[in-house]
Amino acid sequence: MHSKEPEFSENDIPDLSGYVAIVTGGNSGIGYETANQLALHNARVYIASRSQERVNQAISQMSQAAMGKTLDLHFLQIDLQDLKSVKAAAEHFMTLETRLDILINNAGVMTVPFKLTADGLETQWQVNYVSPHVFTSSLMPLLLSTASTLDTKDRVRIVHVSSDAAFFGPDTVQWNDVNMTSTKGVMELW
Ligand SMILES: NC(=O)c1ccc[n+]([C@@H]2O[C@H](COP(=O)([O-])OP(=O)(O)OC[C@H]3O[C@@H](n4cnc5c(N)ncnc54)[C@H](OP(=O)(O)O)[C@@H]3O)[C@@H](O)[C@H]2O)c1
Repeated sequence: MHSKEPEFSENDIPDLSGYVAIVTGGNSGIGYETANQLALHNARVYIASRSQERVNQAISQMSQAAMGKTLDLHFLQIDLQDLKSVKAAAEHFMTLETRLDILINNAGVMTVPFKLTADGLETQWQVNYVSPHVFTSSLMPLLLSTASTLDTKDRVRIVHVSSDAAFFGPDTVQWNDVNMTSTKGVMELW
């Protein structure tokens, strides 16, 4: 859905003290801005990324721009091209925290060359769909237990960041060829 005027801005974000959030791919782009805003509004934020170095750089940049405010930012190791890493990230997170209020599945790749991951899945299919599903499902017990402690039903959120580019693909998953090896036309390269 596109609207001409933004419906809200960062100024509309309430105080998030006591919230714990995960933003995948929060070391750059939209994820960076998302993680930064959540932290600036007092949430504890885990940036889930495959590179501790890039996350450290991002945290340092956000902290410098925060004008003396201390941001509660952390690194969580995850590689969405590796399902073992995705499960391990969720399991590790649940040893670190007793709650999860906001999960933002932001990390994604687009139009990367056709390649199968070590799990045998086409890269975009795994990074953009399968791994976020596995990550979310693995964290679901914690999301549910967090929700059960709250009076408000809408505090716990799962956000999947997507793209209009999804409309270039088929209307539904091609279950007989999930890696889309037989794809022709505009998406043939992938
Ligand atoms: N920018 C746009 O105009 C636009 C438009 C429509 C939709 N979107 C969507 O918005 C989201 C963010 O896009 P963006 O433009 O901000 O992209 P971006 O700057 O390229 O950031 C993508 C993030 O995903 C991470 N990532 C990629 N592969 C990963 C993997 N295997 N494991 C863990 N993290 C991985 C990247 O980490 P590394 O630094 O390690 O690569 C990076 O932090 C995506 O879901 C995209 O589809 C963006």
